[in-house]
Parts: sequence; C-alpha cells; structure tokens
Amino acid sequence: MIISIIVAIGKNGEIGNKGNLLWHLPADLKKFKETTMGHHMIMGRKTFESIGKALPGRTTVIVTRNNDYKKESCLIASSLEEAISIAKEAGEQEVMIIGGGEIYKQSLPLAQKIYLTEVEYVGEADTFFPTLDNQNWNILSEQNNPPTDKYPAWSFKILERP
Ligand SMILES: NC(=O)c1ccc[n+]([C@@H]2O[C@H](COP(=O)([O-])OP(=O)(O)OC[C@H]3O[C@@H](n4cnc5c(N)ncnc54)[C@H](OP(=O)(O)O)[C@@H]3O)[C@@H](O)[C@H]2O)c1
Repeated sequence: MIISIIVAIGKNGEIGNKGNLLWHLPADLKKFKETTMGHHMIMGRKTFESIGKALPGRTTVIVTRNNDYKKESCLIASSLEEAISIAKEAGEQEVMIIGGGEIYKQSLPLAQKIYLTEVEYVGEADTFFPTLDNQNWNILSEQNNPPTDKYPAWSFKILERP
C-alpha cells in the first residue's frame, strides 16, 4: 500500500488559520475530490471537525487520543499507525493523508507520494506544512494555473520519493 499526502500550501507553507482553510479554490477542491475518491482518507480530529462530516465515496479515518470519540460513518484510530493499519487491512492500495498540521508532520517521513497544491498566497496562518527537502522528492508532474479576477495563481504537483 502506498502512503500519500494531499495538501494545499501557501508561499510560506501556510495551510490553515483558526481551524479553517485559507482560500477557496473550487478547481483545487475538484482535484482533491478526484484524487481521494474511493480511498481511505486519514485525518486529525481537528481537520475532521473543520470538514464537519464524512465525505461521500471515501472512507474517513479520524485520528484522536480520545477513546470515547465516535462519528457517524467514520472509523476512529488512536494513533497514525493504527489508522494506516486500518486502511491496509481493508485492502487499500493508496491511503490518503489529508491533514492537518499535526498529522502531516508525523506522516511526512512515512509518505512515498505527495499531491501538492501551491497557492500564491501569503497571509495570516497558525498551521503550516513542514518544509520539503527537494532532494528527497522528484516531481512526477506539474500543472500551473494563472491567476484570474477571482482566484490567485496555483499549481498542482505530484511528488514521489526518488
Ligand atoms: N491546506 C490544507 O491542505 C489543509 C488540509 C487539512 C487541514 N488543514 C488545516 O489544518 C488545520 C488543522 O490542523 P491541526 O494541526 O490543528 O490539527 P489536525 O492535525 O487536523 O488534528 C490534530 C488532532 O489529531 C489528533 N492527533 C494528532 N496526532 C495524534 C496521534 N499521534 N495519535 C492520536 N491522535 C492524534 C489529536 O486529536 P484529539 O485532540 O482529539 O486527541 C489532535 O488534537 C485547520 O486549520 C485546517 O483547516 C489544511
């Protein structure tokens, strides 16, 4: 099973502020949906609460230290390792780690692939993605999108370990 991260970052690695995302980019949300569809998605409890519900067509695995935590249509894991095992034992081929900051930090050393959206955004943030060491990652594909009246420029890259 491949362990993949999917993340959208600003110019300084910004990923969130006060429990929310920093931008609304419908084209990136579409990419997120296409990329995660049919897969197990692992997320921290705070990211789950910011999304608010299990997303259709995917298996939601929430990581929390709270043993009493329960959410409709979601699986609960008490560690990142347990969440990964749940996906593996279900026969998953590619598990998607979808955040947030705490879970990205712990999962980056384990990940073989990153679906990386980079947004031309600089602004207030309280949650960041760890800095990527370019030597550890090859760019498999890159798609650049210019700014429009409504949206900033953004790119979508797929990175893989050499
Ligand atoms: N830009 C993006 O692509 C993106 C993607 C996802 C999220 N985000 C943003 O990121 C922010 C949330 O990130 P965050 O770092 O605050 O929180 P998070 O990583 O989503 O969740 C943290 C929670 O996960 C649980 N947890 C973490 N490590 C654990 C472990 N080893 N074992 C068991 N449980 C563990 C704990 O839950 P308990 O407290 O319940 O024990 C912890 O409080 C939000 O602003 C969100 O919008 C951005």
